Amino acid sequence: CGIVGYLGPQSPKDIIISGLKKLEYRGYDSAGIAILDQGKTKRVRAQGKLKALEDKLVGEKFDGHLGIGHTRWATHGKPSERNAHPHQVRGINLVHNGIIENYLDIREELLAQGADITSDTDSELVAHLIANEVEITKDLFQAVERTLGKLRGAFSILVMWEQQPDRLIAFKDGPPLVVGLGEKEMFVASDVQALIQYTKKFVYLEDREIADIKGNEVKFFSANGFPIQKKVVELNWNPEMVEKQGFAHYMLKEIYEQPRAVASAIEPHVNPETFSVALKNVGFGGVSVQKLDELDSKADWAKTQEMFKGIERVFIIACGTSFYAGLIGKYLFEQLARIPVEVDIASEFRYRNPVIPPKTLVMTISQSGETADTLAAIRMAKEMGATTLSVCNVRNSTIDREAHGHLYMNSGPEIGVASTKAFTSTLAVLNCIAIALGRTRGALDEKTEAELVKSIMAVPSQMEGVLAFDKYFEEAASGLKLFRGFLYMGRGTSYPIAMEGALKLKELAYMHAEGYAAGEMKHGPLALIDERMAIVMVAPTDHLYEKTISNLEEARARGGKIISIGTGDNEKLRAISEYYLAMPKAHWTTHALLSVIPLQLMSYHLACSLGYDVDQPRNLAKSVTVE
Ligand code: G6P
Repeated sequence: CGIVGYLGPQSPKDIIISGLKKLEYRGYDSAGIAILDQGKTKRVRAQGKLKALEDKLVGEKFDGHLGIGHTRWATHGKPSERNAHPHQVRGINLVHNGIIENYLDIREELLAQGADITSDTDSELVAHLIANEVEITKDLFQAVERTLGKLRGAFSILVMWEQQPDRLIAFKDGPPLVVGLGEKEMFVASDVQALIQYTKKFVYLEDREIADIKGNEVKFFSANGFPIQKKVVELNWNPEMVEKQGFAHYMLKEIYEQPRAVASAIEPHVNPETFSVALKNVGFGGVSVQKLDELDSKADWAKTQEMFKGIERVFIIACGTSFYAGLIGKYLFEQLARIPVEVDIASEFRYRNPVIPPKTLVMTISQSGETADTLAAIRMAKEMGATTLSVCNVRNSTIDREAHGHLYMNSGPEIGVASTKAFTSTLAVLNCIAIALGRTRGALDEKTEAELVKSIMAVPSQMEGVLAFDKYFEEAASGLKLFRGFLYMGRGTSYPIAMEGALKLKELAYMHAEGYAAGEMKHGPLALIDERMAIVMVAPTDHLYEKTISNLEEARARGGKIISIGTGDNEKLRAISEYYLAMPKAHWTTHALLSVIPLQLMSYHLACSLGYDVDQPRNLAKSVTVE
């Protein structure tokens, strides 16, 4: 869910709606806004996307200087107007992100007291509790503080009260919240993206912290009421970074931004003169994220190397597309650094009571840095004594702040719900880590390092070349509509790419697709193959090429229709495929960054031609801050 709040001289409605638009990626099944106008709160809510709320607001006049808004991704209670936020109870207005775990008990208690509960959400119950407390305390801050003790779960809230028209209270325990500081105005949002056009100064709330905004002032407290000092962070983003810039969709813009994103991902770490890698300012050894830029890079690199020498294994933990990037990381790390790697889905890892031996590096990959399961996993790994390293895109995000070491995708804000440029930037960073690990641990010589660095440096321009073939990918996509199912396959690093390709098709085109290791085809999927099944085979000319070709022949012999992605002008693949998509010749460590592009674009075009919303696919959200 996305939260925005405003207190100041401008129109709260305009600021909240523009902020919610930037947060729609966090959820888009219903939305609402509440504005305090001359002592009374005016609330408008609508089921569906933000557009439905905007349509309802046409002609509505709002004065006033205080307001809150919300865009929802349903957890408790189906998407509907009555379940949309803000929730209103006797002058209290509240928006909420996350889950209240003990909501059933609270609900029973409130019903026993005769409360008039009007929705199926856990959120409304919190508004009831605060409304009860405020009748006693006559002070919103105290009422919120007294309520917090009764709630269990991971959640953030933003609250206002009709009796205190210049006050907003925000509390975070889980999903992110940030306070934006303006000139004589104050903002609150789930993500700085919502506010970057109004201010560059932010304070990030940590778990169990409260922000008490009164007029132009904000004070911070711990959940039990002790005042705390917080740091103001100044961001140098420009608002254009979060605009579409003439592309039909954010996703398309982000796909096209991949050459630049990959270049920015590797830029801090590679030396283009010596073709060597030195990871820049990772910060092992307890510096805060804000101080990373001030580190002495040489000393920091020495610390990173020392850590790399001391580890015996690596765990990579992530969800969704980031998990598939992690799987490619396994191939890179094992091959280039000869270190054992385990890759795990965060929601499996955290509940499995995993064995983490000493000298383990636990690396998390998360674009948002907020994914609840990944966050829980890194916390658990820390508790179990592991050294942790976060690879994320959003600097200062919760996972980033909590990790021991920090690396960044540097791809700029990613708005499309289905991840694209963050994925390839991650692969670029993983290449750098693998080379650094390999060199430090003596598994790679200088010459091989130079070769590997050259191949990763070549990727941005190779990507430009692949993107120039978009019209062929679009043409291939137009032929895909009629198939009943899709089997994406590959070997080596092309196997995770096959899974990522299948995921993109599911997310965007709502079609059933499976990603499989090509060698496993004969152990099951072969039974599915007939002329209504499309086989998407990623078959670069590498040491596994011949084996992959055999798999393709087996599939073709059973009537499967083939779309293949290979290297250069490959007559053989062209002859056996309905569509053959040629990639430039690349080292095995980097061709995944290229072969994923046609898969992204085919899913994109197919979804567009089916009339689906590619930036915000149904039922999904970009930042999943619930478990
Ligand atoms: C959601 C998004 C995916 C993303 C996954 C992990 O499911 O829709 O695109 O890959 O979360 O997100 P993270 O921010 O942790 O990389």
